[in-house]
Formats: sequence, C-alpha cells, structure tokens
Amino acid sequence: MIKVLLVGGGAREDAICRKLVEDGASICSAASNMNPSISALSRGILVTKETDENSIFDFAVRNEVDLAFVSPDSALDTNLVDRFMERGIRVASPGRSAAKIETSKAFMRDLVDKHQIPGQIDHRLFTSENGLLDYFQELDGSYVIKPIGLTGGKGVKVKGDHFRTDREGLEIASKILRSDSSVLIERKATGEEFSLQAFCDGSHLSFMPVAQDYKRAFENDEGPNTGGMGSITSYDHSLPFLSPGCVEKAKSILKQIAGALQKDGHEFHGILYGQFMDTGSDTVIIEVNARFADPEGINAIFLMEGSLLETLFGIADGSLQNQMKFTNMSTVLKYVVPTGYGSSPKATELHVDYAKFPGNPRVYYASVNGSLSNVKTTSSRALAVIAMSAKIWDASEKAESSLSAIKGDYSHRRDIGTKESIERKTKFMETLRS
Ligand code: GLY
Repeated sequence: MIKVLLVGGGAREDAICRKLVEDGASICSAASNMNPSISALSRGILVTKETDENSIFDFAVRNEVDLAFVSPDSALDTNLVDRFMERGIRVASPGRSAAKIETSKAFMRDLVDKHQIPGQIDHRLFTSENGLLDYFQELDGSYVIKPIGLTGGKGVKVKGDHFRTDREGLEIASKILRSDSSVLIERKATGEEFSLQAFCDGSHLSFMPVAQDYKRAFENDEGPNTGGMGSITSYDHSLPFLSPGCVEKAKSILKQIAGALQKDGHEFHGILYGQFMDTGSDTVIIEVNARFADPEGINAIFLMEGSLLETLFGIADGSLQNQMKFTNMSTVLKYVVPTGYGSSPKATELHVDYAKFPGNPRVYYASVNGSLSNVKTTSSRALAVIAMSAKIWDASEKAESSLSAIKGDYSHRRDIGTKESIERKTKFMETLRS
C-alpha cells in the first residue's frame, strides 16, 4: 500500500485524507490537533506543531512514506519540503522558494511586474512611514494595507471596511512597520472575488472549479475577516455573477505565474491558488497562494472524480497528464465556528449525529479534538458541512438543514449560497459593468 505523509489537521486536510484513503493510500498524519476523522483514518499520527520540521521529517523517514503532502501555509514557510526533496522523498508541495509566491506578498507583486503578467494592481512597498500619506492620496484615498507575510487571512485591512480615515491607515501601517520590516499598500479593487485553484507539476496546470469564499464573520458580508466562513461552486465550474471571459483571464494569469516561477528558478510543484477580483472591466490579482484554499479546496475535492493520489504523484514527478474531472454539480460549504469567532471565540463542545451525514451532505472535522460524535473545539473553525445539488441555493438549503444534526453553542452563516446572496452579487456586478 502506498504510504502518504499528510501535514495539517483542519477540515481541508480531512477532505484530502478521506479522498486519499478512498484512492487506496495509507496515511501518516502530522498536525497540532488530534483531528477525530483524520486520526481514525491514519495508520500513524504525530501530534506536533505544523512548523516543527525536525519532528515531522523524522516521522516521515521512520514511516518510510512514498509521498509527502504538506498542506498548511505555515509548514510551507519552513524547510520541510526541501528536506524531503534532498532525501529523495517524493513531495507534492512547493519548496520554500516557490512557496514565496504566498509567503511574501512583495515577492508575488515583483514577479508579476518583472514578467509583465496581466492583472497587476497599483502597489508600493514601504520600509518606513515616509511617503505613506502621499501614496494614500495618489491612490485617491482608496487602498488596502497588507503585511508581507502570512496572517491566516486576517491581516489585510481595507479602507472603508476596516477603517475610515487616512490617519487610521497611517496608524495601522505604522503598527505593521514596528513588527515587520515593510508594509505593502495596494489600490483597493471593487468587484466580486473568486478563487481559482490548479494542480501544478512545475509547468502544466490542471484547473479546479472556480469557487467563492465568504470571508466576513457575519451575514451580509459584515464583521471582521476570518479564515473563511464557507464557500460555493456552481455546476458549470464558473460562478453565475462573473463577467464573461474573466475565468479564462485568470487561468492565463496563473499559467503565466507558474511559467515565471519556473523561469526564475523557483519551479512550482503543488496547488497554485489565485485569489482574483472581477471588477466588471478587468480581472485583477488579489493574492496568490501555494496550497489548497480553505474552505474552497474542500468544495473542489468533494467534486473530484479521478484519483487525488495519482494527481499528487503527477505533481511531484512533473508528469501531470490530463485535466482532472469534476462533477457538474453545485456545492455549498458552511463552517460551524465557536461563538465569538472572529473577535473573542469561546472553545466549546459540540455533539454531532454523524449518521445524518451520509455523504451528501457531508461533515469534515476542522481544528478540533475529541471524537466523531463529541467534538472539543479550539478557538478556530470546528466543522465544515458541505452539500451538493444542481442549483447553488438548493445545496445551501441542504447544508443548512443538516446543521440540525449538530448540537451545541456555535455560529455559522445562513446566507452562504442562498438565492438572495447570489442575486445580490449578480446585481452588483451588473451595476459595475453598466
Ligand atoms: N480562502 C482563503 C484562503 O484559503 O486563504
């Protein structure tokens, strides 16, 4: 049996683990929590920080794994993948220099500039406060402040959403400069964001269905940014509110990014995930990541028809052949999170009637401990419930009704993928296009 090391213990990794087991793999898992689902499916388990590269490396060698898949961004920002490659262990994740496409937002913007890849946004890197206020004005007071490194999706501050005045903007940027050596300021783009993920074997890309993440903590896209409260995909693998041609543009941009990384000596093997915005007149790059999106990666894996195991070997060996096939159905995923998630979450216990999740809907276990039926949450997201149907809003209703099988003190967003939510996005994009 083929042995796979899987690093990471969230719902995304639970989805990867279940698919790999279905494909015939035997899993050795390394994560900071004892995920009830992953641990039930694994033949070996290491509980340690996902950045603990020494212990994870030794664990993989001891278990003589045939393939490694390093899933979370924090682990990609270590030397773990490079050490596997040096040791001759096949690995379906990018080495540290290729992962910089995510771990350094400045590296990504520079690469796009250098190779004249379309979709760039006006931006400037600052290493001191000098000139910040002038640049805010140059961007017509409409900008986004970004730390350079990883922030778990919670570090970016958008003018108008997270703060109101340039004075506040200056304070936020200065605070980042006090802890990091630089801060990135970008022009704010308006439109609908979408996620495009691809398997990449260094030069070839195989695309997954386009998805959208609902990032804000509360309904109607209010409240703080989170790691993602849920996500949708549509039966046609695009999204009903996107402008014609924008997905093709995004695909071309991701291909050019993979080509640029290869040309510059950072050949990318792994999951290349672009976060784009359809502005109505253009498709622009918001960020580029080096891993499956969470939650959107779960939607993609849920729909995947072929073997993920074979695909990961293709990524590792540079031999991806065909475009992967995905079922033509819509999916809606809703995260169950501890009450107060996004500001002051309270860890709690949840009871899951697991028999009520026969496959569609399905429940995946996130950063939790405990058992399949009695889940002990941390302060992070707890459970991902996903359902599929022909229409997005039917999948949304199906996911929503299945939540009655989860008891306890938790929050979730009801509005993910509802007809009202899709119509609101469609109208908004029509306004931008008119
Ligand atoms: N969907 C947001 C992220 O994975 O970064």
